[in-house]
Amino acid sequence: MSANYISPISMEAISSLCGELDKNNSISKSDFARYHVKRGLRNEDGTGVMAGLTRICSVEGYYILDGERVAKEGKLFYRGYDLNQIVANCVKENRFGFEEVIWLLLFGNLPTEEQLASLQEVLSVCRALPDDFIEDMMIKHPSKDIMNKMARSIMCLYSYDENPDDISVANVLRQSLQLIAQVPTIMNTAYQVKRRAFYGKSMYLHPILRDQTTAQYILNQTRSDKKFTDEEAKLLDIMLMLHAEHGGGNNSTFSTRVLTSSGTDTYSAITAGFGSLKGPRHGGANVKVSKMLSEIIENVPDPTDEGQLKDYLIKILKKEAGDGLGLIYGMGHAVYTLSDPRAVILKKSARELAYQAGYEKEFRTLENIEKITPGLLCEFKGENKEICANVDLYSGLVYKTLKLPEDLFTPLFASARIVGWCAHRLEELTSSGKIIRPAYKSVSKTRDYVPIEKR
Ligand code: COA
Repeated sequence: MSANYISPISMEAISSLCGELDKNNSISKSDFARYHVKRGLRNEDGTGVMAGLTRICSVEGYYILDGERVAKEGKLFYRGYDLNQIVANCVKENRFGFEEVIWLLLFGNLPTEEQLASLQEVLSVCRALPDDFIEDMMIKHPSKDIMNKMARSIMCLYSYDENPDDISVANVLRQSLQLIAQVPTIMNTAYQVKRRAFYGKSMYLHPILRDQTTAQYILNQTRSDKKFTDEEAKLLDIMLMLHAEHGGGNNSTFSTRVLTSSGTDTYSAITAGFGSLKGPRHGGANVKVSKMLSEIIENVPDPTDEGQLKDYLIKILKKEAGDGLGLIYGMGHAVYTLSDPRAVILKKSARELAYQAGYEKEFRTLENIEKITPGLLCEFKGENKEICANVDLYSGLVYKTLKLPEDLFTPLFASARIVGWCAHRLEELTSSGKIIRPAYKSVSKTRDYVPIEKR
């Protein structure tokens, strides 16, 4: 099994080379300013460099007044519709909304009842994976990481497509719908294979039922007894709606657009999205929040006490605790300043569910992190910057109350965000036609080559 492979390169040997590598690669932050290079494609005030135009989504977290960035409550619009309204209407009408969001994001308008039914039908018939795929590509090659397995599976699907490289809109739309339907199947299968291979537990691969919404399908597949309530499915449906799309500039969507602009195939472009989303500063943050929360609860006698929690968060920022990267996960955002509208919606559900399910301490700790971090980060960094809780702060707790395992937190995000990636790939293909190719200024001096015996 690939998991038993031991690298022939020893960490001891490689570590001794890192000093040399660091010395020759480091570029000071002041050089970025000197050459007017926008680190992280960010302007000096933290706003993003304008890299494209889109009709799909608008992410709003500040406005510009007299050239200054002014903080405001966050807003998120899918094709011009406020996400709050989309979610509120589905709740009011007591119906599922993720499929409506899929239609809206891909095609640009709210679907009629017939259109929605036809989309539901297409997704239902596309959920299955090709014959032998599960055995040959998934069971035989388990991975400890579900995002890794999902990315590999998407790449493998290229070989099962009769027309993989055709980037006409019709073909890419066909591939997009298929992938949107198949990704939850891939996610669950990868998880079940992991259960058997790494946890020594049973693997459940339930038959695929027709006429289930994506949320119902996910709960049906991931639970050994296939049982779930309508309330649980509707909550997961909201989670999928909230995670479906976030503008062209978010790291995974931009990665998908970058690959798309080279003219590459759908499988390669979507795999880039998976690779990016897995990162802890992006979608991988939901797992990191969960680990950070457990660590805090284990080490802080009363994490709901501001003083005690603050001391521990300082340790995290100083890289003396946490994962050593100095980040308080679930806090901060590249665009949002005062609030992330997704986190606001989520927090309401998280509070209710956490109290019902006995996770009150977890919820109150997260709320305390949300309260303390903005001021703490300003003190720590010495700059006055507004930061707020992001979507990942409370999402893990909601998944936990839905009995969804930590292994699936980021994959669930991906199962929703694939819709945004596909919509942006289609938009890039139909509206840009120019390869994305920014420039890097070299800060190396030219040198004469030194023959090997003289080094
Ligand atoms: N913990 C520690 N430091 C943080 C932070 C956090 N939660 N949020 C921001 N910062 C730091 C940044 O790293 C940056 O430091 P630098 O100037 O030394 O590079 C500084 O504060 C200003 O950051 P800002 O411009 O506001 O944010 P960003 O766009 O660089 O980063 C995130 C945005 C989301 C990557 C960042 O807030 C973060 O890493 N958050 C934690 C991970 C997370 O929850 N990600 C999910 C996002 S939905």
